[in-house]
Amino acid sequence: MKSIASAPGKIILFGEHFVVYGMKAVLCSIDKRITATSQFIDEKVIRIRSSLGESEISIDSLDNLGKVQQKFMKPFFYVAQKAIKENSIKNGIEIVLESEIPPGVGLGSSSAACVAVTASVNGLFSKLSKKDVVKIAIQAERTIFEQNSGADSSVSTFGGLVSYDLKNGFGDITSRNDLNFIISNSAQVHNTQDVVRQVRIFKEKNEDLFNRLCREETDIVDDATSSLKENDLHKLGSLMLKNHDLLKQIGVSTEKIDLLVHEAKKTSYGAKITGAGGGGCIISLVDNSNSEDTLNNLRKISDCFVTKIDYSGLRYS
Ligand code: PMV
Repeated sequence: MKSIASAPGKIILFGEHFVVYGMKAVLCSIDKRITATSQFIDEKVIRIRSSLGESEISIDSLDNLGKVQQKFMKPFFYVAQKAIKENSIKNGIEIVLESEIPPGVGLGSSSAACVAVTASVNGLFSKLSKKDVVKIAIQAERTIFEQNSGADSSVSTFGGLVSYDLKNGFGDITSRNDLNFIISNSAQVHNTQDVVRQVRIFKEKNEDLFNRLCREETDIVDDATSSLKENDLHKLGSLMLKNHDLLKQIGVSTEKIDLLVHEAKKTSYGAKITGAGGGGCIISLVDNSNSEDTLNNLRKISDCFVTKIDYSGLRYS
């Protein structure tokens, strides 16, 4: 018997970094997924296979996560060990991961993988609700990223367009927009924790400026929320450009990213960094009238693809 589940990646439309200091962010899941397929095997191991590598650990000890060599796989072993312990089984489990989401560029691939693996492994015993999946997926991700807010796993599990802030958590954005984005990858590897640290230093050295930028970000997010209700693409695009400018001011853009935004701006409604910056990806807002032109233009200088909002979140198949 095979248990198959898939979960989407995500993009941040507005508010990255400022969300760390209590401002509101807007994010959505995208129609690029990671699929996890789990099955019992006779060998006494947990085995994980993915395009990024293969790894296995014995099930003789269910307390050996420290031995996992490839750090990104630790959450998946955690999920499988937990399921084996709780269901007292003697078999091993093999998990195969297939991904449409480029890794390590801020598109939520590791959270999507945690969600898909949690649903798929536990589905071998009994299907968990989305609420239970997200709880375990967040615990799993904390085995490698302790400070993880859970925002990415939540949007991946439930899907759609949401707002998020530290005090109130998630809020639904009631309009069901059919937005299309082009995601362009700068091919510059970034490390979210390093970039977040760099912004903290910037904030400490420039308190007044940073407070002003936080207020500007709040206005952008408020305007964006109304523009989403009206589905006003021109307004949303110009707010994205404004948001990009704030991200530039706090020092998280790069020359390559600015070049991508500059090019995207020529034909799309607007563009900005998505996620931590310091490399990673930009998003450009498009529709049928300008998608092809923007794609052709950006393809000359980056890997890019079109994506839209995913409203289904975690799926069992
Ligand atoms: O690049 P990502 O998807 O890891 O986004 C990080 C978003 C930040 O606001 C920069 C950090 C955070 O924890 O919210």
